[in-house]
Amino acid sequence: MEELDSLLKEDRVFKPSSEFSRSARLQTFEDYKKLYQSAQQNPQNFWEKEAKDLHWFKPWKKVLTWDPPDAQWFIGGKTNISYNCLDRHLKTKAQKPAILWEGEPGDTKTFSFKELHEEVSRFSEVLKNLGFKKGDRVIIYMPMIPELAIAMLSCARIGLVHSVIFGGFSSSAIEDRLQDSKARLIITADGGYRRGKIVPLKDNVDQAIQKTPFVEKVIVYQRTKAPIKWNPLKDLWWHELMSKAKKGVDAIPLDSEDPLFILYTSGTTGKPKGVVHTTGGYIVGAHTTAKYIFDLKEEDIYWCTADIGWVTGHTYVVYGILSNGATTFMYEGAPDFPHKGRFWDIIDRYKITIFYTSPTAIRAFIQWGDDIPKKYRLSSLRLLGTVGEPINPQAWMWYHTLIGKEKCPIVDTWWQTETGTILISPIPGAIPTKPGSATLPFPGILADVVDQYGNPLPPNKGGFLVIKYPWPAMLRTIYGDHERYKKQYWSNFKGIYWTGDEARKDEDGYFWIMGRSDDVIKVSGHRLGSSEIESALVSHPSVAEAAVVAIPHEIKGQGIVAFVTLKGNILSSKELENELKQHVVTQIGALARPEHIRFAKQLPKTRSGKIMRRLLRQIASEGKVTGDTTTLEDISVVQTLSSQDEE
Ligand code: PRX
Repeated sequence: MEELDSLLKEDRVFKPSSEFSRSARLQTFEDYKKLYQSAQQNPQNFWEKEAKDLHWFKPWKKVLTWDPPDAQWFIGGKTNISYNCLDRHLKTKAQKPAILWEGEPGDTKTFSFKELHEEVSRFSEVLKNLGFKKGDRVIIYMPMIPELAIAMLSCARIGLVHSVIFGGFSSSAIEDRLQDSKARLIITADGGYRRGKIVPLKDNVDQAIQKTPFVEKVIVYQRTKAPIKWNPLKDLWWHELMSKAKKGVDAIPLDSEDPLFILYTSGTTGKPKGVVHTTGGYIVGAHTTAKYIFDLKEEDIYWCTADIGWVTGHTYVVYGILSNGATTFMYEGAPDFPHKGRFWDIIDRYKITIFYTSPTAIRAFIQWGDDIPKKYRLSSLRLLGTVGEPINPQAWMWYHTLIGKEKCPIVDTWWQTETGTILISPIPGAIPTKPGSATLPFPGILADVVDQYGNPLPPNKGGFLVIKYPWPAMLRTIYGDHERYKKQYWSNFKGIYWTGDEARKDEDGYFWIMGRSDDVIKVSGHRLGSSEIESALVSHPSVAEAAVVAIPHEIKGQGIVAFVTLKGNILSSKELENELKQHVVTQIGALARPEHIRFAKQLPKTRSGKIMRRLLRQIASEGKVTGDTTTLEDISVVQTLSSQDEE
């Protein structure tokens, strides 16, 4: 495998406004560089200093032991993330809202730090009284309601290892995760609201546990009052249990390396991987990155739109935000219900100051039309963020202009379920941004782009994105499969973490993510990342979203097929197809000219919003899809795409 060719030219640079920088934690590029350099010389010192922000029942004896690929952080230290998110703030912030919440039907709830502390202590008492103990795994399968965060914080308070399953997953996903984790307890709800309908969470649990007799109890939160089946041997109402829990329980001191949670993430093949995160390192990473990257301030109302079922929700809806004593806003439902302006309406009503969402959501907003956000003021916003996929420069500019009104910095944050926390991102008052680049690594993170031998590549040569030194919130293993952990992440380069992404660094050292290694296309001997060609397509005024994949090509080896969704009411045509092909040539060169353009109403995506290029590859080369589509959000999308082929 050789290097990747970079074709994208993007010269725009946006400096943070002096108004933003003046009150930011890091105020100049020099501030960042100094901090980065000192952390680079001694990452352990950097993290140790940050760890002292938090409460430890007992201090650590050693910051790190590193026996590649096994790291331990803050060894000997005792802490508790629930204590750090709640108890620690009671003296100074008891009355401050910790969680603001809006349900899809419009109902609302607020929990101050004091109220949240009380709920969590009492629910921990419930769990303890049911006989669950430190180290036991608990599956949480709930809608986006405050009780989901309460359940997680309660598990963490007494050392139970939670595994949250996204509420959009089906019963078979629950069953797989149960089989792997052997959880004896499930916490769920009678349903949740999504696009006006009730998602039958409890029914899904009932189905999933038919083949998992080891599940002893199912705690059910009453959200919708929809009728559900009731098994008196296993099922327990949340409110009935809570009415008996009067005193609450204290957070127990946990060992820094005690597991905190397992989060399942789909591998490209086979059964999902249970990514294991531990207590001390994770909280230090979550706390520190949230503090600097979201520049959290006392008065901020912060909203991350991710579902808690993803790592983004764990780290930046719940743990990293509450540990900083900030107010986190949660919303239960869909962005287009009952109308496509719902998010902007929420921002105006709650005076959201920091808004963190995904490129896939942004591209949907673009497709829905500019007139929608234009109806709202959005004047409370001061900082924007994105995560999950490369953001095409055009979509970045749209976000910057229409939502940020050209005054809000954008933090394009690169990270993974496995990394636990953001590793590459602008620090908003300090680092000038370039549309489409996640910019620079966080202090303490030694990221690089290397060739197949692990040698660093010169500027603008694409290669493997790797991390060369351990960091506190890194995964420790894959649950029950340490060999898979070693093989997947650490076997390509000794002692170096392999991310599976391709990237380049530009002449300023900025990182540009070029796509997943699996999605690389090789045209006439040149290896091209998917994201640059997609960005070229998205820069055409008619295009909302694009995905490119390779098909076999007799002469070139591989040819490019582009799947494109158009904005608003724009219709597809042969002329537009030719125009788009030419547009790619003009933007990035003849090499990347697509062989075919396929117009689609939607692209197949995972439930977390990532484009499934694997399916598109099959559609492009075979005309149909075989194999696993269980993580696909809407199967009809694939059906439509493949039936077009037969026409
Ligand atoms: O390919 C990268 C992409 O998402 C992958 C990680 O996915 P997941 O574990 O689901 O976590 C998503 C939320 C942290 C990465 O390997 N990715 C994530 N953020 C970015 C990104 N690609 C480009 N730019 C980003 N900011």
